Amino acid sequence: MNRFTIPRDIYFGEDALETLESLDGKKAVLVIGGGSVKENGNLDKIQSHLAKANIETKVIEGITEEPSTQLIQDHLGTLNEFEPDWIIGIGGGSPMDAAKAMWIFYERPNLSFEDAMQPFNLPGLRTKAKFIGIPTTSGTASEISNLSVITDSETGVKHPLADFELTPDLAVIDPVMVESMPQKVIAYSGMDAVTHSIEAYVAKPRTTFTDSLAIEALETLDEHLLSSYKGNQESREKVHYAQAMAGMAFANAVLGNVHSMAHKSGPTFEVPHGCANGIYLTYVMQFNRSVVGDRFAKMAKRLELKGDTQEQLVDSLIEWVRELNHEMGVPNTLKEFGVSEDLFKKHVDQMAKNAMDDPCTGTNPRETSEEEMKELFEAAYYGKEVTF
Ligand SMILES: [Fe+2]
Repeated sequence: MNRFTIPRDIYFGEDALETLESLDGKKAVLVIGGGSVKENGNLDKIQSHLAKANIETKVIEGITEEPSTQLIQDHLGTLNEFEPDWIIGIGGGSPMDAAKAMWIFYERPNLSFEDAMQPFNLPGLRTKAKFIGIPTTSGTASEISNLSVITDSETGVKHPLADFELTPDLAVIDPVMVESMPQKVIAYSGMDAVTHSIEAYVAKPRTTFTDSLAIEALETLDEHLLSSYKGNQESREKVHYAQAMAGMAFANAVLGNVHSMAHKSGPTFEVPHGCANGIYLTYVMQFNRSVVGDRFAKMAKRLELKGDTQEQLVDSLIEWVRELNHEMGVPNTLKEFGVSEDLFKKHVDQMAKNAMDDPCTGTNPRETSEEEMKELFEAAYYGKEVTF
């Protein structure tokens, strides 16, 4: 038996935000990142739509970094006091993931983080509030997914919390939210979306439903990501929808080693999530090609890349990722990103070990040993071809 779960409603396109005017409820907590959503007037827009629905709002702001258990704890009091019946995550992955985690512990105050960390083990939510995701970047698809990635403040290790209870009730994907997205964010979040498409398309739990979304998303990203990066607003809108499609794919097919490695190395090396994915993707594709070369070749054909044989097509897809990184200023190695060799050597063993415990490793198409995981990190540090 398979399961496919996405938000109950997805409103998208110009003026999608207007749907907020028809919400039922009394109070909404809005969780946002830095100041940009305020400065560009979009927070005002959201609040005025909610006001038309007679919904009182409270804003939790400043979620600029990837959220930690401590940060969640710090804001729980606000939720408990205000008692919202809607929680709205507005932003890139960090504010949306933080809002999801706050939602868990607002609903279930006695739940421990250790319990919440167990995949697909959450008790029912929605006894107090429902959840809305409004993305301001194009990549994480947290507005679609059943995931919230949280760093344990005590250990510094990132853990994806995964459960279909976390799938938002409503996703509002309005292109106005990404009109002024900075170029670096377009590049990093774009490579996150590319990684979601490719990893979901080859992940062990993939299904016919997730395949169609993953490959269509990749084709759209091929056609529009670079052009969005260069400032084309029509392309930016297309990418905004493509990343949500990739989100529908990976929320149900899960991911692979690229994400395990990004989760476990991101905080220590201070590499943003999408950038880490862009770095690791080609090495993990080389590692996985012996098992899912036919799948990579299918994607390459869909993108009309060069190649007569499967091997040539896989090479072309890997080269396509490298080139896309290059065009958008995303490094192809950790060294190029600026991680010092001392820091890398100090942490690589522990990182490989931690990555083995990440739930995304279990769904990677090829079984991976701890030694191989370490070699993947080394390949991605020094830029070595993966031939094992
Ligand atoms: Fe991701």
